[in-house]
Parts: sequence; C-alpha cells; structure tokens
Amino acid sequence: MSADGQSIGILLSGRGSNFCAIADRIAKGDLKAHIDVVVSDKADARGLQAAREHHLATVFVDPKAHASRAEFDHAVGRILQDHAVDLVCLAGYMRILSPDFIRLFQGRILNIHPALLPAFPGLHAQRQALEHGVKVSGCTVHFVDDGVDTGPIVLQEAVPVLDDDTEEALSKRILAREHDLYWRAIDLVLSKKIAIEGHRTTHR
Ligand code: GRF
Repeated sequence: MSADGQSIGILLSGRGSNFCAIADRIAKGDLKAHIDVVVSDKADARGLQAAREHHLATVFVDPKAHASRAEFDHAVGRILQDHAVDLVCLAGYMRILSPDFIRLFQGRILNIHPALLPAFPGLHAQRQALEHGVKVSGCTVHFVDDGVDTGPIVLQEAVPVLDDDTEEALSKRILAREHDLYWRAIDLVLSKKIAIEGHRTTHR
C-alpha cells in the first residue's frame, strides 16, 4: 500500500459517471485510494475519455482481438496485475466475467447495480422495477461472484418510485444515489471494515 492508500483498477464500458464520482472523492481526500488504471472493452467509451482527462492510465482491450471471453479476461487480468491493483471496481462494465478472472481477484471485485438486489438483476434494472410496479427501488454495491449480480452485498440505498416516473427519471435519481454509495462501499472494503461471512457481509 502506498502513502495515498490502496490501488483501484476500474473496468467500464460507457459513460463512466460512477468512475468520475469515485475519482472526485479521491481528489477531495474522502477516499484514501488511488486509481491506477482504467480499462475498457469499448475504444470510444466516454468514461475512458474522462479517465484521460483525469491523467490516469487507460487501456482499451479489443474483444475482437481475443478468441474467447476467457482469453480477453486473461488480458484484462494481466493489466490489472501489472498495476498491482488491490481492488477491481466494475463501473458500468457490460461484460460477464469468466470464472478464472473471478478466481484471480477472489473477494476483490465490486460492482454497482441500479436496483435493490436480489430484485431486478441483469440489464435494464430500472425498467424492470417500473414494469413490476415496485414502490421502492434503489442501488446496490456487491462483491462479484460467478452469478449475474448475485455476490454478497456491501451497501444498498433505497430510492422511491414515483407515480409519474419514467425509466429515464428513475434512472437519474438512482444514479445520483449510486454516486454517493459506491465510494463509501469501496472505503469500507479497502479499510477492511467489513467481513464476508457466507453470503453476508458484516461490519467489523
Ligand atoms: C449504472 O447505472 C450502474 O449501476 C450500472 O451501469 C450504469 C453505469 O453508469 N452497472 P456510468 O457509466 O457509471 O455512468
């Protein structure tokens, strides 16, 4: 661990607003960590551009240049290992991770999901919440295991669903809460304030 805290590697595929929120908390000194590398499977991801503007190391890994998901993930894993990251944070990363990658970073991969898991895993969580008619949704930060959005939950925050909500409006309100939740979960994990016991996490 260096003087400015432990090392984070970010994986993203798109806009990167969660990545930016984490970077802002680090810059403010709220989160004692540093982002060593931002990796994307999309050359034109807005988040990759934002990372360059933050003067961070960025790597585009081209899925087409790898024969299989396992090979692609192996390449990504090598990059994260070369940067000696302590924690891998998925921030809008639109790929399912291969079992080998999950094993390599066992208990050291976090994801943020725009629903109160285990409700509405997978894609379009906000649309699923609206279609189901729930009155409360929210966001979840969880460890990544080999299921889709199934790993032990670190933190959750509820967001009310309003009668006149659209998918866009609900997504926007949830996203605002995501930005305040993810860095807190990272802080808990990096400062070893939580323990994983079976499928539960508990505060030490
Ligand atoms: C967020 O809603 C996050 O919960 C989900 O993907 C979206 C990423 O948004 N996993 P951004 O790229 O961080 O703006």
